Amino acid sequence: MQRRTQLYEGKAKVIFEGPEPGTVVAYFKDDSADLAGGKPTVVTGKGVINNAISDLIMTRLSEIGVATHLIKRLNMREQLLHKVEIIPIEVVVRNVVAGSLAKRFGMEEGTPLARSIVEFYYKNDDLGCPMILEEHITAFGWVSHPELDEIMSLALRTNDFLSGLFSGIGIKLINFKIVFGRCWEDEQVRILLADEITPDSCRLWDLETNKKLEKDRFCQERDGIEEAYQEIAARLGVLPDLEHLSSEGLRLVR
Ligand code: TMP
Repeated sequence: MQRRTQLYEGKAKVIFEGPEPGTVVAYFKDDSADLAGGKPTVVTGKGVINNAISDLIMTRLSEIGVATHLIKRLNMREQLLHKVEIIPIEVVVRNVVAGSLAKRFGMEEGTPLARSIVEFYYKNDDLGCPMILEEHITAFGWVSHPELDEIMSLALRTNDFLSGLFSGIGIKLINFKIVFGRCWEDEQVRILLADEITPDSCRLWDLETNKKLEKDRFCQERDGIEEAYQEIAARLGVLPDLEHLSSEGLRLVR
């Protein structure tokens, strides 16, 4: 990797200064944390797959009018992105009861929801990302009312698109998390979909068998994580790009 300025390191990505002002480069790591307890895990090759999947999804979303931070995929592990100011809110959209929703209300996982639920969490790992209300978001001045309306609308459009994309490849989209950022262009502020959309940020179940394809299952069963990432990538048609991985495979390292 060439020498360049690192701006930030998160759980799954490193962000470097980009080649032009207003750009950054995201490097997708193999590091992972399970959805339940945040236990650190390394899955060799995961970053390559997630880079390809997020590239595909963000590109398709921008084609249907959901503006994203993606400029282009640079190589197997890196993307060139518009530099954005990350809005400190995680937006979770739910179609089926699972994960923390099931725990919070003592409901059975797999129960379909009569309508999709949009939830907000404060993006702060030190505080455990607490759930927040629209009132907190606007009272704390994190986003304005019109921006929040736009975020809600973009989140629901993303849900419609992703639900269709995944159901077309035999996968049920249980829920997902997205993050937005602000970008200034000619004195205008734009809200862009940021971060990533990958199996790390979604709960995905097989449509027919309800088999969990998400990383939580593998943190419980300690087996098969490589097959799940490969299976999702293969069903999305991005696995052929990844042939060079076959000699190395995807290994779970603890
Ligand atoms: P949940 O089903 O546990 O409530 O999580 C909802 C979504 O949030 C899930 O699809 C993935 C995402 N998520 C993360 O990206 N990181 C996390 O640490 C957690 C807990 C959830």
